[in-house]
Formats: sequence, structure tokens, C-alpha cells
Amino acid sequence: MTTPQFPVEPVSLPALADQFGTPLYVYHQPALIDAARALDLSLAGPTPHLICYALKANPTLAVIQTFARLGLGADVTSGGELFRARRAGVSPEKIVFSGVGKTPAEMAQALDAGIRALHVESEGELSTLAEIATQRGEIAPIALRVNPDVDPRTHPHIATGLRESKFGLPWESIPALVAQIRSTPSLRLVGLSVHIGSQIVEPGPFREAAVRVTALSRDLLTQGVALEYLDFGGGLAVCYEDESPPTLAEWGSALRAALDDLPLALLVEPGRSLVANAGLLLTRVLAIKRHPDKNFVVVDAGMNDLLRPALYDAYHPIVSVTPRRDAPEEHVDVVGPVCESTDALAHARLLSMPQPGDLLAVLQTGAYGSSMASNYNSRPRPAEVMILANGEPCLIRTRESHADLVRGESLLD
Ligand SMILES: Cc1ncc(COP(=O)(O)O)c(C=O)c1O
Repeated sequence: MTTPQFPVEPVSLPALADQFGTPLYVYHQPALIDAARALDLSLAGPTPHLICYALKANPTLAVIQTFARLGLGADVTSGGELFRARRAGVSPEKIVFSGVGKTPAEMAQALDAGIRALHVESEGELSTLAEIATQRGEIAPIALRVNPDVDPRTHPHIATGLRESKFGLPWESIPALVAQIRSTPSLRLVGLSVHIGSQIVEPGPFREAAVRVTALSRDLLTQGVALEYLDFGGGLAVCYEDESPPTLAEWGSALRAALDDLPLALLVEPGRSLVANAGLLLTRVLAIKRHPDKNFVVVDAGMNDLLRPALYDAYHPIVSVTPRRDAPEEHVDVVGPVCESTDALAHARLLSMPQPGDLLAVLQTGAYGSSMASNYNSRPRPAEVMILANGEPCLIRTRESHADLVRGESLLD
């Protein structure tokens, strides 16, 4: 098993727990920067490219800001994410807006912001957007998100590029939609996009999708459509347990090769691969429960703080921050305090038995960790800290208070 270890030095995790409390998300800024630079390098070549960081993976402002300062753009899927991207300093011309259900208000917000393009996913969305742009006397830049019917060979809950998926436009609908756009003065088709799924561990599906959409773009260019870019989405896997994701070099060269000599810019929308390994969730052991058939380690982080294990049965490495060398290794379920049987961070995990008060670190939780956190069981969401290059921790999100939990609520008269 190759488990990337979080680079904690010189900051000590117990000191962070004492200072900021637990559960606590901890991100390592140099690791974020290294991930972005490595990904950028893998796409380098004669074709201009832009990395639009998929905010859904981790929309905390300081994370977005870290990438924006390196020149990255953003892929947003809601008005809220667009607001965050702008607040964190992402230039509007580097923002694309994906998503299967944009409201008219979100479309207007995107036009107000002057983003690079809205990625349209249905005929209805196209008509609504055309109407809004006409009313405003503007021309809306759009890309069509096509469904390439490619099997990403990943967990079914995070597969999006298959024909039966709700995402993207059916392949055969594209010619009619292109004709519709070309006859609509308030719309301008600037790109095509695909995103076939997440945590994709083979280069093949990326290549297949890229080749399909590139062939389509060739046809459209021949017909005189002034396309500017192809967006190959995100989806690159990280190794949580024993997966062997494509290397960045394999991934980057598959995309660049598909684009070949076309006069188009290359866009990508990675989320997980930029942030997953740069974050951990620090949690304190509350109790040890020994049942006849199972041992439970009850910690103060629950499924409301980290949903992935409950939602996808996802694996995250868990390490003892204060290893007890004398303690026997035992198989345990690491569970949270939430009143749901699915509230577990790990099942049958071999750990040297901790004691109440010990700290555990749930690794590789930078992606789809804090972004999926909720207030379920009226639990305040955790604080978040970023370790800077000089080793200093910076509090980037304060722990929610009980007052935060009821903000916006009113009692009846
Ligand atoms: C349209 C789109 N782009 C990009 C991403 C980011 O994917 P990942 O985090 O796997 O790179 C997603 C995630 O589901 C998505 O739906």
C-alpha cells in the first residue's frame, strides 16, 4: 500500500489540536502549490491551456486563492461557487460554469460577472439563456457539455459520462443544437466540454472521451463554427488505498495528443487531484467501546464532517498521531457521534488501540471533505487551518458556533 503521508513538519498536530480544537481540517499550502505546478507542467506544450480548478472539491476561500495566485481559473457549479471564485480573486475570463441545472438567476449572475463561458447541458437551458441574454442585449458565450458515452470504470455514484447519466447532452442531439445556436444572435458557441466521472484510475477513458470530442470539434470547425477551446473536465484519481491512477504525464499527454494540431485551447477541470492529498482531518478519540463481536473507536468527527466513507464507502488512511507502541494492533471500526449506523470513518481497520483523548489523523481528506460537511445532528462544522510555506498555521475558517447553527432562523410569535 502506498499511502502518501501528510507533510506535518514542522507543525505538530497535537499543538494544532490544542490551539484550534478538533475536529479540524488541516491543509498544507506547499502541497497544494506543488500539485498545481505538477499538473500545469503535464499540460505544457505549444497548445495554450488553462486549469479551471473544480471548486466543488474544496471551495474554502484560501484554497481557491492559493490556486488563483498561481494563475489557475475555476470551474463552478452554482451561483454560490461563482461568488466564492470571484471573492477569492479568480479572474472572470478564467471561470467556466458547469452543472445540469442552472437557475435563471445564476445565468444572469454569470453574465454579470463576465465569465469565460456557461457550459450548457440541455436544450431548455439553451433557450432560457438565449432569452436572458436577449433581454440584456448581450451575447452569452457558451460551451456544450457533451455526453460521450464513455465508461469511466469508476464507482457508479461518480460516473457521469455514460449514456444513461443525467449529465451532458446526448451525442446525437448536438448537430440540431449547434444549428439552433448559430441561428440565435444572443448565443456564441466557444467550446465543447466533457467530464466523464471522478476518481478515474485508467488513462483509457480519458483518451476515448477526448478523441470523441476532438473529432466533433473538427467537424464543427469545418462547418465554420468559431470554437475557441475544448474542455476535457476533471476526474483524475488519487491513490487512497491500492489504486494506480494514471501518472500526470500519461494523463496530460493523452489529452494533448487528442487535441493534436487543432487551433483550440485546452481546458481541464481537476478537483480531487489538486487538493485530496494536501489535507487531513484531525480528530480526537472520545471513547473505546468493546462489544462482543467488534471494537469501536468513537471519535469526535462524524459523517457530517467527512461524508465520503458513509456516502461511497470510501477509504481514507487513518493514522494515530500519538502512536502507542505498547498497545496491541486490533481491528476496529472508527465511528463518529452522529445518530446513524452509517456514521463510520473506517470499518475493520487495523490500528494500535488508542485511548480516549488520543488524536487520529484521517488522511487525504482535502477533497470532498469540508465541501460536503453539513450541520446534521446540529453539529457545528469544523475549523480549517492552512499550514503555510514557513510552517506557520493560518486559521482559514473558524469553527462554527451554536449561534451559527440558528443563524437565519426565527421563533414563531
Ligand atoms: C463538471 C465537473 N468538472 C470537474 C469535476 C471535478 O472532478 P474531480 O474532482 O474528480 O477532478 C467534477 C466532479 O464531479 C464535475 O462534475
